[in-house]
Amino acid sequence: MSKSISGKAFDFSLFKRTMTYVKPYNKMFYITAFLSILLALIALIRPILIQIAVNDNIKKLDKEGLLFITILLVITLFVESIFQYFFTLLGNLLGQNVIKDLRNEVFKKVINFKLKYFDKTPIGQLVTRTVSDIETIAEMFSGGILVIIGDLLKIVSVIICMFYINWDLAIITLIPIPILFFATSVFKRIIKKAFQDVREQVSKLNTFVQEHITGMSIVQLFNREEVEMAAFSEINKKHRDAHIRTVWAYSVFFPVVEILSALSIALLVWYGLGEVAKGYANSGEIFSFTFFIYMLYRPIRQLADRFNTLQMGMVSSERVFKVLDTQSNIENKGILTTEGLEGNISFKNVWFAYNNEEYVLKNISFQVKKGESLALVGATGAGKSSIINLLGRYYDINKGEILIDDININDIELNRLRKYMAIVLQDVFLFSDSIYNNITLNSETITKEDVVEAAKKVGAHDFISQLPGGYDYNVKERGAMLSVGQRQLISFIRAYVHQPEILILDEATSSIDSESEELIKHATKVLTEGRTSIIVAHRLSTIQNADTILVIDKGKIVEKGNHTELLAKNGFYKRLFDYQFINQTD
Ligand SMILES: Nc1ncnc2c1ncn2[C@@H]1O[C@H](COP(=O)(O)OP(=O)(O)O)[C@@H](O)[C@H]1O
Ligand SMILES: [Mg+2]
Repeated sequence: MSKSISGKAFDFSLFKRTMTYVKPYNKMFYITAFLSILLALIALIRPILIQIAVNDNIKKLDKEGLLFITILLVITLFVESIFQYFFTLLGNLLGQNVIKDLRNEVFKKVINFKLKYFDKTPIGQLVTRTVSDIETIAEMFSGGILVIIGDLLKIVSVIICMFYINWDLAIITLIPIPILFFATSVFKRIIKKAFQDVREQVSKLNTFVQEHITGMSIVQLFNREEVEMAAFSEINKKHRDAHIRTVWAYSVFFPVVEILSALSIALLVWYGLGEVAKGYANSGEIFSFTFFIYMLYRPIRQLADRFNTLQMGMVSSERVFKVLDTQSNIENKGILTTEGLEGNISFKNVWFAYNNEEYVLKNISFQVKKGESLALVGATGAGKSSIINLLGRYYDINKGEILIDDININDIELNRLRKYMAIVLQDVFLFSDSIYNNITLNSETITKEDVVEAAKKVGAHDFISQLPGGYDYNVKERGAMLSVGQRQLISFIRAYVHQPEILILDEATSSIDSESEELIKHATKVLTEGRTSIIVAHRLSTIQNADTILVIDKGKIVEKGNHTELLAKNGFYKRLFDYQFINQTD
């Protein structure tokens, strides 16, 4: 979770880096900073006005003067409110602008990471980075740094003002302040730990709920409701306890502050009235000091919270920057953008491992000529899908060469390379969007007519038309409302409308009803016509016409030939064929 985080209260280099995102909004930043200074100074005016009112107007029963001061008081209050309004507005605007840019940058980074990165990084972690961590950075600006500057200015100016007005009185009334600072620092430590616990429990709750809703069918199929409920209840209880600890800290700290401020007031009254009697102070000063004391305690009390906000912002920015600093893109050094590649594919002694040296593909060599089709068959885990992952460079190979028209795929510009091919994956992912957008993937060059035409060709138009809303039917999250076969047909249309030179197809393994199977068989024929294609087939019926069939076992090619040749060989393929034939007829 929160590993290797410096946890320093204030990390200057991190802060400097965060501030680079403020640059485009410099004007807004300076205005807000200036407003915080103004607010600190304006706050002094009211106590002083009251002091004057008591000393000059009330004592002398000067009604006109009192009215004048009252009007001045109302005006200052009004001006202060306006400044406060702009301060809050601009501070938040600044924070939100900064995180808008930062979030775009993070997402842009994440969307370009290679697939290997996602194999190793929990989804929840990346969601947290791009959503809630960045939110915390915004608070750094709206509730953190600028407010702290304002509060510190206020504290200093109030203290200076108190000393300027009455030295003795200032010293006596400020006696409890060091105790307050001490209490604040203790409180800050406790509350920081408690908030960290809360955050951790919240993230546990999130993960648990997300996982169990996603896997709800398993929970219910295996009657796990009670067990899972108990596990949930345990995490929920921990969350409550952590939360209560924060409440406890506040409920102890606030009364302590109250007591200390009451102590300051008591000292003021006790000592101050004596001074007034002796003529060393006047009653107006007693009034203004009462205000000053309240003006001191409030910001000091809030400092602990503000520093925590700042610190959490620091932790979040460190995490976010770590994502930004991750170098995990597929190297795109290729410069060739040659138009009109023909689509001859060849693998030459290709070795590939997802991790270190655990090879899942061993010395794979084959060729597919332009317009021909190659089928891959073999048991689950043999390495068929892995071969497919390599051609579009979703993973890079360890040894050997992959060539398209005798050009090493590493030398072709990555986007260009991927444009040549369309891939239909084994598990079709659908976004929670309309069928139409799921097919075009928001490409502007594909029209509605293209989509309908493709659907008709592929043979999926009928079933899509029957859905409520037809092509506008919104497939809910992950397309759970559609059958596996239907989802795969949609991804066939996806591939068809993009008119690729090379087609790669990984057949869905899950059982597909015979009607869908017929449709898929037909669609496969339509899609592969006239293009170079590689098909991973689970139903051998689909590939009997393939030009070449490779039988893969444990990462190696064990047989090669067309359907008739392979049957004649009476080996792996024949066994696979007989097995399926028997299973189909029973
Ligand atoms: N993303 C991955 N990270 C690590 N190992 C993987 C990954 N994907 C597949 N594998 C492993 O690679 C081997 C080949 O898998 P795969 O190519 O998917 O087989 P097939 O498609 O033939 O069923 C399997 O042992 C599988 O566990
Ligand atoms: Mg597979």
